[in-house]
Amino acid sequence: MLDYEVPSEPDVVMKKVFVKTYGCQMNVYDSQRMADALATDGYAPTDNIEEADLVLLNTCHIREKAAEKVYSELGRIRQLKEERLRDGRETIVGVTGCVAQAEGQEVLRRAPVVDLVIGPQTYHHLPAVVKRVRGGEKIVEIDHTSDDKFQHLPQPQKSVVRHRGVTAFLTVQEGCDKFCTFCVVPYTRGAEISRPVAQIVAEAERLAEAGVREVTLLGQNVNAWHGRSGDGQEWGLGELLFRLAQIPGLERLRYTTSHPRDMSDALIEAHRDLDKLMPYLHLPVQSGSDRILKAMNRKHTHDDYLRLIDRIRAARSDIAMSCDFIVGFPGETDEDFEDTMRIVREVTYAQAFSFKYSPRPGTPGAELKDHVPENVKTERLQRLQALLSEQQRAFALSKVGQSMDLLVEKPGRYEGQRVGRSPWLQPVIVDEAAGGIGEMVRVRIAEAGPNSLIAEPA
Ligand code: SAH
Ligand code: SF4
Ligand code: F3S
Repeated sequence: MLDYEVPSEPDVVMKKVFVKTYGCQMNVYDSQRMADALATDGYAPTDNIEEADLVLLNTCHIREKAAEKVYSELGRIRQLKEERLRDGRETIVGVTGCVAQAEGQEVLRRAPVVDLVIGPQTYHHLPAVVKRVRGGEKIVEIDHTSDDKFQHLPQPQKSVVRHRGVTAFLTVQEGCDKFCTFCVVPYTRGAEISRPVAQIVAEAERLAEAGVREVTLLGQNVNAWHGRSGDGQEWGLGELLFRLAQIPGLERLRYTTSHPRDMSDALIEAHRDLDKLMPYLHLPVQSGSDRILKAMNRKHTHDDYLRLIDRIRAARSDIAMSCDFIVGFPGETDEDFEDTMRIVREVTYAQAFSFKYSPRPGTPGAELKDHVPENVKTERLQRLQALLSEQQRAFALSKVGQSMDLLVEKPGRYEGQRVGRSPWLQPVIVDEAAGGIGEMVRVRIAEAGPNSLIAEPA
């Protein structure tokens, strides 16, 4: 006879976590790492917010609109939390990312529905923080810790990597020491750090073993990455790319975002010598006016940028350029703006993002006089975007009739189709007979649609 109580079945029902990601690719990477950390703690990911026991908003602070979106979403989440509570289900609500880092306690004040606020440098504490919240605390954790979060964040199971697809992000560098006067990143992501070579190589190898064919190295200033090789040599991003190109199974390498001041010779040589390094470079210039570039603290001129592009194109003639622009920085005159239009014509871009300047609290730009009126910003943005989309269209059309390698990534929108990417990051639609997901296939571009290319097997 048993004289003690048989323990009841362990609770095998996993809790669910829903993560919504705003902002840049680094947030995408971070969201996955957070999901991986929570998976070891009994939280399974879900795409359905209504069934989530834990809701995380991984936020972006780069422009006012991006930051404000979070608060309207939190309004909706408050209702959801109340509804779930009526059914006897608790919901923990967390704000992570750059709004968390920039606003801290203020997030709790503006949105009392929030239970935890955690900044990008302390994601490895997330499971412990969630546990404390379940014990009834509200927590704000935004200190920059000295321990290496990357070392403490678990790597995903191979099955999880496979589920995420044949392309992956890999953060190699985080933070920024450049302090462009418009930008919040140095404040939200802290000082520049580079992950060590061995950690990066091990993560890339794991990804390749799990079936990833294309890795995009990430950093707010990815080309400022530096480290030491196994034999003690000082490496920059160029040398790192040569090392990663040796990993079996990895067919394609990309990196983003770069700063014009950190395009080293070795990196340009990597574009010349590495077939696996894709001929596509996102290299933001922000403005074409020397006066504005100076006020932005970019520390390069219109001419420096053009000469750099010449060197890059001399190394790799088919490279396509991508860019970010800001219009209406304080003090920008019509003449300054025409310099931006001119640099676009001089370079010609395959792709670009352009934004109206948004004054950010705590940045030197916000303190400047001579803010540009909203209607002028709007008009300049429209003109710039018209030129950029013309160039984008011309670039797409230039590929019609060409043969190229396509990495098949996923099923297409319609039965019998698959979608892949060209070396220049363009979505390409192809018949499923062309090849399976994860395969590199040779195709010929038959047509250029508005947002994608249409190919047939070559
Ligand atoms: N590290 C990258 C930029 C990251 S932010 C770089 O150095 O280029 C992404 C883009 O957002 C920037 O390139 C810039 O074009 C835009 N941006 C940043 N701050 C902004 C602001 N205050 N207003 C409008 N656009 C901004
Ligand atoms: Fe922001 Fe400039 Fe740093 Fe880019 S380089 S993240 S724009 S401060
Ligand atoms: Fe936004 Fe932070 Fe990325 S402010 S752009 S999420 S680094």
